[in-house]
Amino acid sequence: MGENLDSNPNAATPTFYLKSYGCQMNFYEAGVVKEILEAKGYIETKDENKADVVLLLTCAVRNHAEARALGRLSSLKRKGNNNGPIIGVLGCMAQNRKQTLATRFGADLVVGPDGYRDLPDLISKFRGKQIPQVCFELNQECYEGIYPKPPGVDKVTGLVSIMRGCNNFCSYCIVPYVRGRERSKNYREILKEVEILSNGGVKDITLVGQNVLAYNNQGLDFCDLIKLVEQFSKVKRIRFITAHPKDFNQGVINTLAGLKRFGPGIHLPLQSGSNRILALMNRHYTREEYLEKIQLARNRIPEVSFTTDIMVGFPTETEEDYLRTLDMVSRIRFDFAYMFQYSPRPMTQANSIEPKVDSNLAHDRLVRLIESQNQITKENSQKLIGKELEVMVEQIKDKQSIARTMNNKIVIIDKPEPLGKILMTKVIAIRGWTPIVEILNSESVKELSKEE
Ligand code: SAH
Ligand code: SF4
Ligand code: F3S
Repeated sequence: MGENLDSNPNAATPTFYLKSYGCQMNFYEAGVVKEILEAKGYIETKDENKADVVLLLTCAVRNHAEARALGRLSSLKRKGNNNGPIIGVLGCMAQNRKQTLATRFGADLVVGPDGYRDLPDLISKFRGKQIPQVCFELNQECYEGIYPKPPGVDKVTGLVSIMRGCNNFCSYCIVPYVRGRERSKNYREILKEVEILSNGGVKDITLVGQNVLAYNNQGLDFCDLIKLVEQFSKVKRIRFITAHPKDFNQGVINTLAGLKRFGPGIHLPLQSGSNRILALMNRHYTREEYLEKIQLARNRIPEVSFTTDIMVGFPTETEEDYLRTLDMVSRIRFDFAYMFQYSPRPMTQANSIEPKVDSNLAHDRLVRLIESQNQITKENSQKLIGKELEVMVEQIKDKQSIARTMNNKIVIIDKPEPLGKILMTKVIAIRGWTPIVEILNSESVKELSKEE
């Protein structure tokens, strides 16, 4: 970095603070940003008041996501003075709002999701000229050759991005506009990343992409890739997020059923239970097809658990459409759902679909949906009482272990256990929605740990 940092009083050890919002992709890319800055001599600080550079890695998927990041940006600017840190807005909101973040909100750097390699350069240029620096070029960037570090001693889970961008253009969604076209990372790079994480202590890997089932590199598809990851890595559990229902088919289900270390928790965003709304959303599946796929997977993959995303209040949604969504929820009985009220996004097709649903009415639908799904989540948990579950310890908190089942459910053990340990347990109670488990006799514990 040397020469360009000369004007910085802390040139010897410039520090950065990074705060991430949004989806797993952003949390993965936070690791990419750190790698890029550390390679140029920057050091991360967890104290924003001590940072030379404060970076917000933002999301634009709903208005609320942007409002949060803008609020944070404004409060940083209020605190700052001439000697304050350089403030950068990165990610999807940067790509969406572009220069206005500099002109109206006072950001010093505005960098879209494909521009992170230029960050050290942009920081130096800002230091030199004191003029905001921006980068919004969308290219075929996959950040190959950058390997986020293993998370260290306090974490045994890790993310690996396998593809970026999206070509689906669901009519409500801003992602294809702010992240550009779909492209897949070289499979060798993915295997190398998994190996680096695994050597660094990670035991549970999640393959990340806007639609991982669209993976396509050198003739290899998603099924080929996940088989390779299982074959060439030592990780105990392999997961992925997100799968688009239109691409979730018999072939994928058969592949998953044949894997030994696939953690059978599948996130399959439903969005709506009304075929009319699904068509307007440009989702390319019907409720009947969705139900059939769930059934097929439940028949083929033991202990498979489904989670989902659901949206209410999409333009023109009637009470009847909404009741169809509720009906799907009660038929499928998801283990968990993220539920949202439709939020109009710039550039998207749904902006021109009329009439819009009254916001109070949409809010009321959301509240009823959440009540209904929460009840199901709770009942599904209650059914686990007395069941034996294999779990892996992921975190120690307040003298308890937070562990995860093979199929992605969080459980609690009322005492600390070593991180990454795989234990056979039995569910003894439910606290809120969370199963409390006890460790089964030490013999089964020994059996399992021998395999480790
Ligand atoms: N790529 C993923 C999810 C992307 S965004 C996928 O296709 O599943 C995560 C979720 O946010 C979506 O599944 C959707 O339910 C929700 N979402 C996206 N755009 C939205 C909008 N304009 N308003 C409300 N929710 C939205
Ligand atoms: Fe958005 Fe649809 Fe792409 Fe998911 S698949 S990122 S919801 S456009
Ligand atoms: Fe948000 Fe961008 Fe992810 S808009 S949901 S951070 S891809």
